[in-house]
Formats: sequence, C-alpha cells, structure tokens
Amino acid sequence: MIRLDNVSKQVGHQILFIEASAALQKGEKIGLVGPNGAGKTTLFRMISGREVPDEGQVSLDRGISIGYFSQDVGEMSGRSAVAEVMDGAGPVSVVAAELRELEAAMADPDKADEMDDIIARYGEVQHQFEELDGYALDGRAREALAGLGFSQEMMDGDVGKLSGGWKMRVALARILLMRPDVMLLDEPSNHLDLESLIWLEQFLKGYEGALLMTSHDREFINRIINKVVEIDGGQLTSYSGNYEFYEQQRALSDKQQQAQFERQQAMLAKEIKFIERFKARAPTLPRCRAGSRSSTRSSGSSRRGGARPWRSNSSRRRVPVRTSSA
Ligand SMILES: Nc1ncnc2c1ncn2[C@@H]1O[C@H](COP(=O)(O)OP(=O)(O)O)[C@@H](O)[C@H]1O
Ligand SMILES: [Mg+2]
Repeated sequence: MIRLDNVSKQVGHQILFIEASAALQKGEKIGLVGPNGAGKTTLFRMISGREVPDEGQVSLDRGISIGYFSQDVGEMSGRSAVAEVMDGAGPVSVVAAELRELEAAMADPDKADEMDDIIARYGEVQHQFEELDGYALDGRAREALAGLGFSQEMMDGDVGKLSGGWKMRVALARILLMRPDVMLLDEPSNHLDLESLIWLEQFLKGYEGALLMTSHDREFINRIINKVVEIDGGQLTSYSGNYEFYEQQRALSDKQQQAQFERQQAMLAKEIKFIERFKARAPTLPRCRAGSRSSTRSSGSSRRGGARPWRSNSSRRRVPVRTSSA
C-alpha cells in the first residue's frame, strides 16, 4: 500500500534518512521505533505528503485513504467536539451542519414566513443525512469520544474551550471515525489515562485497516503491532513480529556483532604476537628473496607491499623493499 524506495532526507543540518527503503502492506500493524530525533515524525510527514524526500520515492497505492494523527492538532473552535470528530469522516459533517442550521431556523420566529421552504429543505437534508449513515456516524463519534474519556457535556460543548490534551483526543477520535485504509498515529498514547488507553488498544487491535504508529508506551505498542520498522543510522529495517520479538532480534544481532568483534580482536592479537616473535628472530633468519611474502597476512586485511620494519632495520639486508604491488 505504501512504499519508500531509497529515500534520503535532510532536515536542517541533520541527515535523517540515507537511501532508506520500507513497505507497508494491507492489514499490517507496524510499530515505528527509533530514538528521539531519529526522524519518526519526519517519516509520517513524508508519507502524508506534508514533506517530500530529497531523493528517492514515497509511493502510495492509487486511491487509498490516509488518516494522520500528530501531536500538532491545530486550530479547533466554533463547534462541538462531536461535530469536529464527524468532520473527519467527510461530507456527512457538512450535511450535519446544515441540518443543525435548519433546526435552528425552524425554531426562529423571525423566519416564520420562510417556514415552508425551510421545512421542505429540512426533509431533503435529513434524507441526505440518512443516506450518508449520519445517525450511525453521530453514534460512532460519541462512542469514540466516550472511549477517550469525554462526558456528554464535553462532547456537545465548544471544542475551542477544551485544553490542549483534550483537543488531542478530539483529533484522535476524528481519525478513528474516518476509518482510513492506513492510519498514521504519531504518539497516540500521550495524554491518555489508563482507561482511555485500554479502550484505544481494543479499538486498534480490532481495526481492519493498516496501521503505522509510534508510542513511548512499549507495553501498549507491543500488544497491538505485528511488525516493527526501526530507524537506525538513517536506515529503515523491518522485523516481522511484535516489539518483544524485535528486542530479542536486536539483542541477538548485538550479541552476534559482539562475538564477531571479539573473534577479530583475538585474531589481531595473535597476529601481533606472531609479528613480535618474528621481529625478535629476524636478525638470525636466513636471507630470503625480495618480495617473498611472510605468512602473517590475515584474510581481508591488506598488508601487501607495506614497509616491514624488521627487514629495513636489518643491517644484513640490502634488498630493496617493494612498497607497492601490482
Ligand atoms: N522543521 C525543522 N527544522 C529543523 N530541524 C527539524 C525540523 N523538524 C525536525 N527537525 C529535526 O529533525 C530531527 C528529527 O525530528 P523528528 O522527525 O521529529 O524525530 P522523532 O519524531 O523521531 O523524534 C530532530 O533532530 C529535529 O530537531
Ligand atoms: Mg516525533
């Protein structure tokens, strides 16, 4: 559904991605992990089209819908929280707004002489609202808001009067109601109390669309996701499995790397010992042909033709030392 191909991206002076590639398939629930400042939010912004990569491509399947929740909720005011949430679900909110205007007009004595027209229009709009499943949507918006801890009064009150944390919950409910093909959730668990967190977890577990999310709450993310994408050193690495599995894999690969490093160190130490021994014995060794190689070369390292101190220091030897090799 979403693919990143060889994406490179620099923000300010920082290089965040270097030819990074990853994919999100239908039904996948991915945890995006990486240290603070690694570029998780930047990745969300590139997928949602708010930023473009410097190089490479972000491609989305034709016609897929994306819902993006970020900590940056923007302006909200002048309508109820329920209306704000329903607005995310598309045209139904416009119809709902007109329905409310018409209801107000019907109760307005100044508009008594227009009443026939108003009532006729109300019938039309109400029909449209039903067609768009507006009543069900209203119910679902209330359900989501209740799940995220809203009381009835808060749902119907002015969204502009809510604190930043509650506005964040409205923005989250809006995305949940949208039910897009792909949800991008950047730290949705921030600002949530335990009850809301449990409700959100259940919702996301049951969600049939694809999901890409970050969260500082490891337990929370571990229970929802089935794949991990890690940002590390500008690269994206995918691990199938939950967060726990990812950590095991990481620990394993760290261990393997450590073991390899130790093997290399041991080999190097042996080589050094060998050279030391050779050096000590060098003056008494029989002459050997110029350019012949000692057996101290280790695999992978290039020592060919390098100056060999024990040879050039030896007063008995006057053969030119080769410094380059063909
Ligand atoms: N508009 C910007 N201008 C300059 N630097 C930015 C901008 N946006 C993000 N950054 C920097 O880019 C890096 C990555 O940020 P971000 O994508 O938010 O990382 P994350 O979400 O993984 O913590 C951070 O060091 C941040 O300070
Ligand atoms: Mg971030």
